[in-house]
Amino acid sequence: MLFDIEPKTRREDLFSRDNEVDSILNFIKGRSRFLAIYGIRRVGKTSVLRVALNESNIPYCYIDARALENDFTKRRFYQLLSNCLTELSIKWRLENVIRNIAKIIRGISIFGSGIELNIEVDWRSIYLTDLLNALSKNLDQIVIAIDEAQTLRMLKGGFGKIDLTQILAYTYDNLSNIKVILTGSEVGLLHDFLGLENPKSPLYGRFIEELTITPFNRDASIQFLITGFRQYGIEITMSEILDAVDKLDGIVGWLTYYGNARVRGITNIDEIYRRAMELVNEELRSLLSRSTYYGLALEAIARGKKQFGEIREYITLKLNKYVAPSEIERVLNNLMKMNIISRVSHGEYEIADPIIRMKFSQI
Ligand SMILES: Nc1ncnc2c1ncn2[C@@H]1O[C@H](COP(=O)(O)OP(=O)(O)OP(=O)(O)O)[C@@H](O)[C@H]1O
Ligand SMILES: [Mg+2]
Repeated sequence: MLFDIEPKTRREDLFSRDNEVDSILNFIKGRSRFLAIYGIRRVGKTSVLRVALNESNIPYCYIDARALENDFTKRRFYQLLSNCLTELSIKWRLENVIRNIAKIIRGISIFGSGIELNIEVDWRSIYLTDLLNALSKNLDQIVIAIDEAQTLRMLKGGFGKIDLTQILAYTYDNLSNIKVILTGSEVGLLHDFLGLENPKSPLYGRFIEELTITPFNRDASIQFLITGFRQYGIEITMSEILDAVDKLDGIVGWLTYYGNARVRGITNIDEIYRRAMELVNEELRSLLSRSTYYGLALEAIARGKKQFGEIREYITLKLNKYVAPSEIERVLNNLMKMNIISRVSHGEYEIADPIIRMKFSQI
């Protein structure tokens, strides 16, 4: 059903993304080793990825780096890794392969068997490269998919940062049975993390295929809502559909949120937008608490102050104090790296997400 809130995993629930899914399937079949999937929040990256992984018939390990939930320890990361190995074994009946690997590498514990299987990878004793080596040796092909991979730049070990790009570079250079797919909504941060163009980065100069997921156009958005409501047999006027499409800019996550709220019986449209803005508020909370400049910059842009000078003037007036241009530049650059704003024509800044725009124009 189109209005289900969870990321989609089957093509029949996925609206109008055949090309994107096919690109991922072609990548998995083809010769390239790494793929990065970009796109702003809620545009449908995870759904496209999961549908492709499920259709590909190649064993895969899916890690959602957001599930670290601000616990950037090696221990937590290894928990996610353990979960994905467990899923890999059960779903692809690879229990024996994993048992063989566990004989060679000390520190992999296997509890239970069959669908009760549970694998634990000891974070204190296992090197990731050893584990990846073993997987590569024992499987013809495996895909490792890391959702919101930019989050992994924060990983810390006992003695400081864990540099996962080194492990990725090792994989790229040596383990040809492993393909890696990374997604990132904070595109600039993912770029910085991978450092493909940074001579100091271990991944410097490697070729990575790229796929950008873009919002639906107006027609697709209208069709999406019409089809979704039809699935529930709910009558809805065209003027309501057009109004929602005007407000939600083809971001499928918001269209889904809207449809879901409506079919669950929320008829007060303002209430739906209010809840969406609350959600966004929650998601932006840690960013907004970092510095008041972030909220003020977003407010300025949402209210039509789109040039650098106008944004700076808005913030200066609001705070009634001198604000250095370099400060504003830093804030705007960070917002751009997070894909929250972008720079459009004539150096004007724009907020990508319609609900963020709505929220900050209302304050
Ligand atoms: N093509 C699609 N057809 C139907 N529903 C979709 C489609 N793409 C995404 N959705 C729905 O939109 C919402 C957001 O999708 P998804 O989580 O895949 O996007 P995302 O880009 O990974 O978002 P985030 O940046 O928050 O991780 C989910 O509710 C999902 O079910
Ligand atoms: Mg996602």
